[in-house]
Amino acid sequence: MKDQPDASAVYKPSDDFVANAHVDAGAYAKMYAASVADPDAFWAEHGQRIDWIQPFTKVKNTNFEFGKVDIKWFEDGTLNVSANCIDRHMITRANQTAIIWEPDDPKTPALHITYAKLLEETSRMANVLKSVGVKKGDRVVIYLPMIPEAAYAMLACARIGAIHSIVFAGFSPDALANRINDCDAKVVITADYAPRGGKKTPLKDNTDKALLHCSDRVKCLVVKHTGDQIHWIADRDIDLRQQMDWAKPYCPYVEMGAEDPLFILYTSGSTGKPKGVVHTSGGYLVYASMTQQLTFDYHDGDVFWCTADVGWVTGHSYIIYGPLANGATTLMFEGVPTFPDAGRFWEVCAKHKVSQFYTAPTAIRSLMGLGPEWVEKHDLSSLKVLGSVGEPINPEAWNWYNTHVGKGTRPIVDTFWQTETGGHMLTPLPGAIPAKPGSATLPFFGVKPVVLDPATAKVHDEVETEGVLCIADSWPGQMRTLWGDHERFQEAYFAQYKGYYFTGDGCRRDADGYYWITGRVDDVINVSGHRMGTAEVESALVAHEKVAEAAVVGYPHDIKGQGIYAYVTLMKGVEPSDALRKELEAFVRQEIGPIAKPDLIQWAPGLPKTRSGKIMRRILRKIAENDFGSLGDTSTLADPSVVDDLIENRMNRH
Ligand code: PRX
Repeated sequence: MKDQPDASAVYKPSDDFVANAHVDAGAYAKMYAASVADPDAFWAEHGQRIDWIQPFTKVKNTNFEFGKVDIKWFEDGTLNVSANCIDRHMITRANQTAIIWEPDDPKTPALHITYAKLLEETSRMANVLKSVGVKKGDRVVIYLPMIPEAAYAMLACARIGAIHSIVFAGFSPDALANRINDCDAKVVITADYAPRGGKKTPLKDNTDKALLHCSDRVKCLVVKHTGDQIHWIADRDIDLRQQMDWAKPYCPYVEMGAEDPLFILYTSGSTGKPKGVVHTSGGYLVYASMTQQLTFDYHDGDVFWCTADVGWVTGHSYIIYGPLANGATTLMFEGVPTFPDAGRFWEVCAKHKVSQFYTAPTAIRSLMGLGPEWVEKHDLSSLKVLGSVGEPINPEAWNWYNTHVGKGTRPIVDTFWQTETGGHMLTPLPGAIPAKPGSATLPFFGVKPVVLDPATAKVHDEVETEGVLCIADSWPGQMRTLWGDHERFQEAYFAQYKGYYFTGDGCRRDADGYYWITGRVDDVINVSGHRMGTAEVESALVAHEKVAEAAVVGYPHDIKGQGIYAYVTLMKGVEPSDALRKELEAFVRQEIGPIAKPDLIQWAPGLPKTRSGKIMRRILRKIAENDFGSLGDTSTLADPSVVDDLIENRMNRH
C-alpha cells in the first residue's frame, strides 16, 4: 500500500530525544537570536571549537556590496585543517575508528581506520606530494573512487597547504581536463579503476585522455586499487601506494592563514563554464564541524554515515571535514544503494551500527519503488537521526523514509544548502525544531534568510510569503570567490539583488516562518540531487557536427526529481533517427559525463524565438512538463507555428 503523506503534519522529537540533544527549542531560539544580533561575539565563541595555532583577534570582516564584495572570517588566525581533523584527536582518540570504509563488493572486508592510522597514511601521502614538488598554494586535482586514499589525499593537501579540487569520478575526460587546466593543477591523483555497483569505470584511462589536453608538467599519481591492467607513461605516472610505502610515516603540518584556500570545487552555473567555488580554511572548518555536530545531534561513540560522494560538497563537509574535525567515526561507502541488492544501504547501517544516516531524496525514491521488504530485513535499531539533502523531498518520500527507515520515531533533518554555502543553511536541529515533510524549516545559526520579490527586488517583510531566497549577511562557511574570477563571483551572486547573496532558489515562507524551497529560478536544473547547467548540456550538444541548435530544460521526473529534456535542431539535410538520438546521448556522456545524458531528446525543426532571436524557454519548459494548455502569450514569437509542431511531437506525455 502506498504511504499516504500528510503534508500539514508536524513531527516533534520524543521527550527522550530532546532531553539528550545538544540543542533544544529554547536553546535554539536564544542562540539564533544571539547569532544574528551580534555575529562577532557569537562566532568569537564558536570559533573556539577548532584549534588555532595563532588565535584570531578579528572575527567578521565581510561586505556584500556589489563591486566591493569581500568576505573574511577570523582573518588574523592561523591553523592547519589536517591537524584539526587528525592530530588534535591523537591524545584521546588515537585508537578510535576515524573512517569505516565499506567497499563496493560486500564480500570484501570493510576497513576500520583509526585516527593513528589516518595520521600515518595522510602523512605518507603528504610526503609523496612534497616529493613531486607540491608546495603551499599549489593545486592538486583528485579524481578517485570512494576509497580511503581520497580522504588521505584531501587531508594530505590540507596538511601541506596545497589546494585540492576533487572531480567526481563520473565526469568525463573532457570535464576533467577543463578543471585541471582552469585551476592549473600540478598533480592529478587518480586510480586504475573505480568499482561501483559491480561495474568498473576506467579512471586512469580517462585521466590519460584528459592529460592529452593539459600541460606536460602535470604529474599523475595512481592508486592501483583493483589491480587491473592500465596504460603506464614513464616519467609522468607514479605508483602512489608504492611511494607511500616508501615515504616517511610522519609529515609536519604547515601553518595556514584562516583565509588561505582549502579547496576549489567546480559546480554548474547558468552559463556553459563550470564555476570554481573557493572555500578557505578557518571559517569553513568552524561551520562544517558545527553543523555536523548540531544538525545531526552527533555524540561521541556515534557512527555517522553520509552517502554522498567526496566529489560533491556534501562529501567534503559531511564525510570528511565536519565529522573528522569533531573526532567522529565517519563511514565512507564505495558502492551504490542497489548493489548487490536493494537492501545494501540498510545492510550497511545494520552491519556498522550507523547512528546518523544522511542521503538524497532521489535515492529514497528509487528504493521506495522497490518495496519496503528490503528495509525490513535489516536491524535498523542503531539509527537516531535521518537526513536529506540535494533537492526538496516530496512528502511521499519523506513519509516512506520516516515510516520504514525511521520507524516513525527518528527525527528527519531536511538540510537546504549549496556548494557555495559550505554547510547547512536551512535545517531543523533535531531536538529543537519540529519537522514538516518537505520543508527545510528554519535557518542555522548566523544565517539571515530573506525572501525577495523577483521582479521588484523588494524584501517581503510579511511572514507568510513567496519569492526568491537571498541571504542578508555572511556566515563563516560561505565561499569567498570563484577561482581566478572575483568579478564573475560578484556578478553571479551579488548583482541581481543588491546587498544580498542570491541563492538561485525560489522559496515560500509559511505562517510559522518555515521555509519551503520551490527549486531553482535560474537555468540550473537538479538531476538526482546533482546540479546541472542547462547551458552546459546545450554546449555539449551543439559541439556535435550534426546539431545546429539545442535548447535544454528540466522536466519533472519520478525518481530523479528533474530530468533533462533537450530540443535539438539538426543541420540541414540530416535526418532524425533513433540511432542519431543514441549517438547524441553518447556524445553528451563523453563531453560531460553520464549524469548529463539527456533523458528525452525531441527533434525540433525550429525553436520558439522572439523577433530578436531570444529562445523563449518558458514555452519549452511548459511543453517539456506536458503542460501546454497555459503557454501564455506567444504573439511575440517570430514564428508561432513552431510551437504547434513542438506540442504535437512532445516526448513527455505523462
Ligand atoms: O536548489 C537547491 C538544491 O540544490 C542546490 C545546490 O546544489 P549543490 O550546490 O549541488 O549542493 C547540493 C548539496 C548541498 C540548491 O540551490 N537543494 C539542496 N538541498 C536542498 C535543495 N533544495 C531543497 N531542499 C534541500 N534540502
